[in-house]
Amino acid sequence: MVPAAGRGERLGPGAPKALRGLGGVPLLVHAVRALARSRAVTLVVVVAPADGVARVRGMLADAGAEGSDSGPRVLVVPGGATRQESVRLGLAALPPEVDVVLVHDAARPLVPVEVVDAVARAVDEGAQAVVPAVPLADTVKRVGPADGPGRPEPVLDTPDRSMLRAVQTPQGFRRDLLQSVHDKALSDGSDATDDAGLVERYGGQVVVVPGHEEAFKVTRPLDLVLAEAVLARRRAHDDF
Ligand code: CTP
Ligand code: MG
Repeated sequence: MVPAAGRGERLGPGAPKALRGLGGVPLLVHAVRALARSRAVTLVVVVAPADGVARVRGMLADAGAEGSDSGPRVLVVPGGATRQESVRLGLAALPPEVDVVLVHDAARPLVPVEVVDAVARAVDEGAQAVVPAVPLADTVKRVGPADGPGRPEPVLDTPDRSMLRAVQTPQGFRRDLLQSVHDKALSDGSDATDDAGLVERYGGQVVVVPGHEEAFKVTRPLDLVLAEAVLARRRAHDDF
């Protein structure tokens, strides 16, 4: 599943983020292709901005990502106001026979297929919930509230960086587990920034497999500059 219904506010004014171009191709088309490259993927559900379903279908058709004989089937459904709601709507569109779900942000267009395969394999081998992650480059500090506007924030402590990971997508789940934590979150009114966070909240075990630096999320304008550079390098080496 590809949640692609966000507005992309941090990227600045313009079209919804997932519909913006990277090397002339919308981010969400890159993301769908990245998943489709994995033999583990048989269906891709794209969760589009609610008012952009027809446009997204058109983009996927133009890219040849929809309805081709060789690749996975692609379905497009309307999303919601939050990422969590969008994922819930995507889950509701899955046919009954699906029992493993990979949730992959449209905003991570350049994830290498090795990461997709590693996540799918870990679920196949028995994990209930799997996230790809990378070590942190920066030292991280926990801070408290400043004692006034514009005042510096006091540092509380410095977590041991060797035990921290920055998580990426696709995140992989047994379908029944993902459905049950989303159902609980809906009835509790709780939310999390990623799906694995919901599993943790309700006591499930999440495991980490190696992510990749090219699976970074396009969040701010500078990320798009980096993504263009990575894509240009791939095109120059013919490995995309
Ligand atoms: N997403 C979604 N539905 C929402 C919000 C987010 O499907 N209501 C998706 C985004 O399209 C994106 C992924 O969740 O692929 C990760 O979210 P994020 O990077 O935060 O994207 P946006 O919410 O679009 O960006 P911003 O927070 O800057 O507005
Ligand atoms: Mg967001």
